[in-house]
Amino acid sequence: MKIAQRAQRIEPFYVMEVAKAAAERAALVAHTDAPMIFLNIGEPDFTAPPLVQEAAARAVHDGVTQYTPALGIPELRERISAWYSTRFGVNVPARRIVITAGASAALQLACLALIEAGDEVLMPDPSYPCNRHFVSAAEGRAVLVPTTAAERFQLSAEQVRANWTAQTRGVLLASPSNPTGTSIHPDELRAIHNEVSQRGGTTLIDEIYLGLSYDEQFGQSALGLDDQIISINSFSKYFNMTGWRLGWLVVPDALVPVVERLAQNLFICASTVAQHAALACFEAESMAEYERRRAEFKARRDYFVPALNALGLNVPVMPDGAFYAWADCTQAANKLGVKGSWDFAFEVMNKANLAITPGRDFGHANTSRFVRFSTARSLPELQAAIGRLQKILG
Ligand SMILES: Cc1ncc(COP(=O)(O)O)c(C=O)c1O
Repeated sequence: MKIAQRAQRIEPFYVMEVAKAAAERAALVAHTDAPMIFLNIGEPDFTAPPLVQEAAARAVHDGVTQYTPALGIPELRERISAWYSTRFGVNVPARRIVITAGASAALQLACLALIEAGDEVLMPDPSYPCNRHFVSAAEGRAVLVPTTAAERFQLSAEQVRANWTAQTRGVLLASPSNPTGTSIHPDELRAIHNEVSQRGGTTLIDEIYLGLSYDEQFGQSALGLDDQIISINSFSKYFNMTGWRLGWLVVPDALVPVVERLAQNLFICASTVAQHAALACFEAESMAEYERRRAEFKARRDYFVPALNALGLNVPVMPDGAFYAWADCTQAANKLGVKGSWDFAFEVMNKANLAITPGRDFGHANTSRFVRFSTARSLPELQAAIGRLQKILG
């Protein structure tokens, strides 16, 4: 069977190989005094709070399970709009909010609406691997621009200028980022958007970790800068609803009918049950729980990152959001007598029963030096992980 070029262009998701090996090892060591600790997982260890669970059960029980409008139920679009206003002080009218099957569907819709075959999209290296694959699935070309710690592993306006070509259509940023947990400084973001706009391009920004911010100077939505910016968001991370498959896309007014047409044809709508359940995310009780959990994520970061640094697993930029630590493992790998983050991750898996993610998936520049730790695990698990790393790194 002849496989389409566009499918062949999608690189393998190496993290799955690591996850498979980790699952095999986990079965082997399950009944020992050191069962596997999984710090390779990019999703919260919390589940949806009680009111959300009850709302989902109610929707199922009452038979509220028919298709919804392609743009989503109006009440949910209104509640998200109100959240932007109360939490971030930004006016985002509900009519510009499109409910999607997770950020993944939002990214697909945005890429299909904007990218022509051969168009280039600038992205930071490292970045979340699927984002460059959404671009290539739309027949565009993701141009990964190597970043440094000095720029918080994010693109700078200067790099946008330097890498812009006649084929460039825009930038796809993520703030805070996966795998680094670092955000773009607001002044830099404004400068980047100016560069992009001056060239007639589009600024797309993946804000899926927007709610999970631990630093006052970041944690603001890019939507406050300009209503021409396209923002991708989700109920997966801050709202702890990964498997519910619910997210949203904010687009300029002119793009709403275009995205609506695409969404009608490609998805019909996002999950009806998940949409009705998500209304309860914005109740005061749920919000208070989400904020407690955000404080817990911050406490985990505050413990874990300095502990990694003390072990020589240097995290060059303190993450200001999300739940990741992007650590240079060069020194630690040398200690274990291995080279590169891929072998280091397997060595740690086999010697410490600790699953972590090697940098390979996230780009090509310095990723063989870096590993990603997820801190979306309980504090006792993170403490145990540090204890095990201490033991093998001496
Ligand atoms: C930066 C980023 N964007 C998008 C996604 C996809 O999220 P969703 O579950 O909303 O499809 C993820 C998931 O890990 C992510 O880290």
